[in-house]
Amino acid sequence: MHFDNLADLVTQAKNCTRCGLCQYRTQVVCGEGDDNARVMFIGEGPGQREDELGRPFVGAAGKFLDELITVAGFLRQEVYIANVVKCRPPQNRDPYPEEITACRDYLNEQIRLINPQIIVTLGRFSMAMFFDKDLISAIHGIPKRVGRVVYYPMYHPAAALYNGSMREVLLKDAKKIPLIIKKLNKMEQEGFFAKEELENEQRKFEQENLQKALEIAPSGFKVVDADVAVTLHNTQEKDIIAKTDSSENNLNGGQLPLF
Ligand code: URA
Repeated sequence: MHFDNLADLVTQAKNCTRCGLCQYRTQVVCGEGDDNARVMFIGEGPGQREDELGRPFVGAAGKFLDELITVAGFLRQEVYIANVVKCRPPQNRDPYPEEITACRDYLNEQIRLINPQIIVTLGRFSMAMFFDKDLISAIHGIPKRVGRVVYYPMYHPAAALYNGSMREVLLKDAKKIPLIIKKLNKMEQEGFFAKEELENEQRKFEQENLQKALEIAPSGFKVVDADVAVTLHNTQEKDIIAKTDSSENNLNGGQLPLF
């Protein structure tokens, strides 16, 4: 599946019959927001109100998400909001694995086209798309960087509707988003990503060469040490994080477990 733009994706998704959820939906809820958003929020799936209006997070959970977006320093229209599945599961049941798989191409294409700096996962189904077998209670509020993108797991805003203390947890996690952006911007400015990419290229090249050498090596030939341990970038990254953490915006006593 490949789309040139989000509008084409929406057009195709409107007629999607890739999974059984198409039988129950009123409308396909692809997502909404800024096509060039730096922050993308990914929820689970549309509820009743979303299904009626064709827009994500417009019910009670959506109201709280709006608050979280404000705390993160953005207007709703400045971020992008999508869901793991684009059609409402009946009675708001959890989406089945085959429904998530059927919808995954749409989400992947949305991420590719929007190219956000931070992907905020809301709830465990969204988290499971980007984190391996982790418990949300253990990893919420802990960003994971992969290249230039940070994946940031948060509880689902609906959790706060039934559990008052969850509200504070979600607000606290949302408050870290501007700090993460600040760190990413600093890493970009200091040339960290360019350097890391260059080093990764170099390492790949060396590994490919080593592989070729092993393939043509005569029997009895011994390769001494295949591991090219490049740790310099890690040291540099820690320096940048330490510097940012000691600034006025530090929200976690210098201990924000970033990346
Ligand atoms: N919950 C979600 O996960 N997504 C929505 O769009 C609304 C509620």
